[in-house]
Amino acid sequence: MADLVQFQSADEPLDCLYLATAEGKDPMASVVMPRAIRNAIAATVHDLDVRGVAGEVLVTASPCREFRRVACFGIGKPEEFTLHGLRTLLRRMIEQAGRNREYQVAVAMPFVPRDVDHERAREVVLAELALSDYRFDRFRSRPDQATKVDGVNVVAITGEKPDELDAKLVRAQRLDSLVRLARDLGNRPGNDLTPTVFAAEACELFKGTAVRVTVMAGKELEKEGMGGILGVGRGSAQEPRLIRLEYRAKKPRASVVLVGKGVTFDAGGISLKSAADMAEMKHDMCGAAAVLAAMKAVAEAQPVLKVVGLLPVVENMPSGTALKPGDILRMANGTTVEIDNTDAEGRLILADALAYAAKFHPDMLVDLATLTGACKIALGSELAGLFSNDDSLAADLDRMGRATGERVWRLPLLPEYRDLLKSEWADLKNSGVRWGSLPSSAAFLERFVPEGVRWAHLDIAGVAYASKAHNGLPAGATGFGVRLLLALIEELAESA
Ligand code: BES
Ligand code: MN
Ligand code: ZN
Repeated sequence: MADLVQFQSADEPLDCLYLATAEGKDPMASVVMPRAIRNAIAATVHDLDVRGVAGEVLVTASPCREFRRVACFGIGKPEEFTLHGLRTLLRRMIEQAGRNREYQVAVAMPFVPRDVDHERAREVVLAELALSDYRFDRFRSRPDQATKVDGVNVVAITGEKPDELDAKLVRAQRLDSLVRLARDLGNRPGNDLTPTVFAAEACELFKGTAVRVTVMAGKELEKEGMGGILGVGRGSAQEPRLIRLEYRAKKPRASVVLVGKGVTFDAGGISLKSAADMAEMKHDMCGAAAVLAAMKAVAEAQPVLKVVGLLPVVENMPSGTALKPGDILRMANGTTVEIDNTDAEGRLILADALAYAAKFHPDMLVDLATLTGACKIALGSELAGLFSNDDSLAADLDRMGRATGERVWRLPLLPEYRDLLKSEWADLKNSGVRWGSLPSSAAFLERFVPEGVRWAHLDIAGVAYASKAHNGLPAGATGFGVRLLLALIEELAESA
């Protein structure tokens, strides 16, 4: 992670100034720099005949001693500039800097994407800048150190006072480290990140903080009647866990419970998945990772709230002891579930955690899960599916999605869908319909939400993981949900 600092003209020249340029715009119009430097750069850029069209890259020697080079990257028409465009551009800049062995660079990015709410857009830009050099090299024997940029000197834009920019940079780096935490967990393979290791990492992460970690295993899960977590975990040599993260302010104004699906590897169980792309199922714990990162933010910010994170963590495997189709489980709230398909395991472990949330008397309950392939088919990698029993919570999440760039799309939670999972033998079954499989997954979860609690379910199956690098996101886990949860908690702490 490169250091983000504010650009100040110093004695040591920086290796390169990366300047975003746009069609029909004076490139230096909203860039704040000492006048002499600005004028010199403006003249050079003018001589270069920069047009600012998308994809244009022009590099020249710097006219002033603050930089060695100036590199202009075109964004195209500013009114068409999007979050994808922003990410792609920033990543290109930082990759080029790394390749060129430029270790100290400046970045002037005076444009904001049009598809992010205007008031928060600069925050999104700076967070994306901080994330632009993310890579996962934990398992590389020789990580490529030579192409890592050490410092990014951010140039202020018009109207941005030095203290303001400093504060924004601190925040961007905070968001950056939280998103990295979630991405790293999502990218770790199943043999490395098992339920036990996940629990150990959680304990380590919150040592000496205001968040108390309790790890529930075997006997305790039995005592709580957590048939879903135990049932799914039964097929694996790796024992299941329920990780409880608790934070409580002195006089909390509200209580929030966050639940995250933590399947460290999803082979499908006896209803085994096909081999194609199965390796990607190492990321089936991205919901849990996002909640963990959000709790880290809570530990740091200490809002006037009670916030509890519940992470059911299991491995879903086929074996002689595994759950079988036809088996019937009794969940934590007493509801019985017939197993139709062992690959619909996420809802089984979430069911126990949602029911258990009642203990904390939540005013608000939010779960994040890579729950269904159907959601990925419906919405692709652009939007998370949102289901909620509360219109105002749904509207808040929609608005926050547009402010953070982690967008959501509300889908129907209708009583009609409840009938789809009727079972001949138990209270309900865990799957069994093709048409309506997406809304019925939410209808299933709804059965375990404590009475009268405002609840939102985010299906992040399409957005949590990128098979290949695209839209400026590197291949792998995206950390989706961290910024959304942070926005939710921050706003609740302010308004409650
Ligand atoms: N973890 C998967 C869902 C998933 C698919 C996440 C693709 C990310 C990308 C989940 O456990 C699953 O297997 N769901 C089944 C449910 C079905 C059996 C009702 C699915 O979507 O096929
Ligand atoms: Mn599955
Ligand atoms: Zn799964």
